[in-house]
Amino acid sequence: MFHTKLDDFPENFLWGAASAAYQIEGGWKEDGKGSSIWDTFSKIPGKTYKGTNGNVAVDHYHRYKEDVKLMADMGLRAYRFSVAWSRILPNGSGEINDKGLQFYENLIDELRKYNIEPVLTLYHWDIPQALQDAYQGWESRQAIDDFNEYARVLFKRFKNKVKYWVTFNEQNVFTALGYRWEAHPPNIANVKKMFEANHIINLANAKAIQSFRELVPNGRIGPSFGYGPIYPFDSNPNHVLAALNGEEFQNHWWMDVYIHGKYPKVIWKQLERLGVTPTIESGDMELLQSVKPDFLGVNYYHGGTVRANKIEFPLKDEEQQLDKDFEATDPYLMEPKEEQAQSPEVPMFTNVSNPYLEKTDWGWEIDPIGMRIALRRLQSRYDLPMMITENGLGAFDELTENREIEDQYRIDYLREHLVEIQKAITDGVDVIGYCAWSFTDLLSWLNGYRKRYGFVYIDRDDENEKSLERIPKKSYYWYKNIIKTNGKSL
Ligand code: BG6
Repeated sequence: MFHTKLDDFPENFLWGAASAAYQIEGGWKEDGKGSSIWDTFSKIPGKTYKGTNGNVAVDHYHRYKEDVKLMADMGLRAYRFSVAWSRILPNGSGEINDKGLQFYENLIDELRKYNIEPVLTLYHWDIPQALQDAYQGWESRQAIDDFNEYARVLFKRFKNKVKYWVTFNEQNVFTALGYRWEAHPPNIANVKKMFEANHIINLANAKAIQSFRELVPNGRIGPSFGYGPIYPFDSNPNHVLAALNGEEFQNHWWMDVYIHGKYPKVIWKQLERLGVTPTIESGDMELLQSVKPDFLGVNYYHGGTVRANKIEFPLKDEEQQLDKDFEATDPYLMEPKEEQAQSPEVPMFTNVSNPYLEKTDWGWEIDPIGMRIALRRLQSRYDLPMMITENGLGAFDELTENREIEDQYRIDYLREHLVEIQKAITDGVDVIGYCAWSFTDLLSWLNGYRKRYGFVYIDRDDENEKSLERIPKKSYYWYKNIIKTNGKSL
């Protein structure tokens, strides 16, 4: 703290909540929807927790009016949701499914009826299966044109109803988990393919923003990046250098492209040494440099702590446990595993647990100050307005005998993060909104329905759809009051 009095949140601050199509909608084959890669992948035995999938999810497709009414009663000012590409273009391109468009139009109209600002995400990980079958999805440059066609359909239809648009959700996460760790579709473990697909997605991002400038001149668009600041294990300069490497590799590698249209040199050279740089064709860099987002969407859950690589700088005894804790718990491990790195080189850094931080039930570090550090770093490097497009706590929630949820732990988590956002605003950071993850409980991609994030409990579990009743949690009423007082009651 270097100031004692905090600034107020801006008057028009977008107090919101977020979701994604596959995680809430259900209706997976309804009204002409095609399959997405998640519809297929989740059916592969052993891939998701207890084989959970989004066939029914929390049935938002049929209950969206009830859900929006709950948002309105809460006083929500913004709602971030994603569109399922396979509802709009069941085959990925070509024939448009008007019923799919109509569903989102109804949802948007319902939100606007209550003055809730829609924040529309174009891509939250669910490319149509038809495009995966036709040409391996994001491995082919054809996906750039098809994504653009899909985006243009939505831009044209909703340009007068939606101001805030998100292009890609957590490109860093879905490329790493999908192409490197075989943990998400398309279920591949190949570093070279990951960097190739990632470059193609960067081009798709840029091309869609070009179309946006043409079709929605008054709108605002940006990617949502899964950002976590990287800390050095301690002040040993070797660890500080490793943290610099980590920050470049895990964050700047994506964000520099979004904002400056170029790849960071240090990482590019490292990938060259490893033989995994993406193929750059003529015109690519010009396309990347031709656009710039209007804002940065930031999904913040936690950062990471790193030390110099274990090969040149062996772990001390007291560091062994931190190393073990990390390997055991973090699902988003990004450091090359020896067998998968396909590299004779020593890693640029090694991830370890941070001894100062508590963890959630799923082993994610809880680091509210990291939120302020994230916002500060991003403001000084990229200097764009920022919207927190995700932040929240995944926990086991228990329904009491009175059918209530006493989720004080979630309130504490959200409050601590919001206080750090307020401090960042006081520091001088431009934050335009905050979308908590999530509005209702929903399907966690790999962890089923028991990892709950919502302000609203959904009566269902991993085995059974049960009543799907919506039950506002204690945190729902708490957030309602925060919105009402524009953050003064934090
Ligand atoms: C983000 C995603 O990575 O984290 C969300 O954008 C996701 O879709 C959220 O649900 C929480 O992750 P998890 O694995 O706990 O569901």
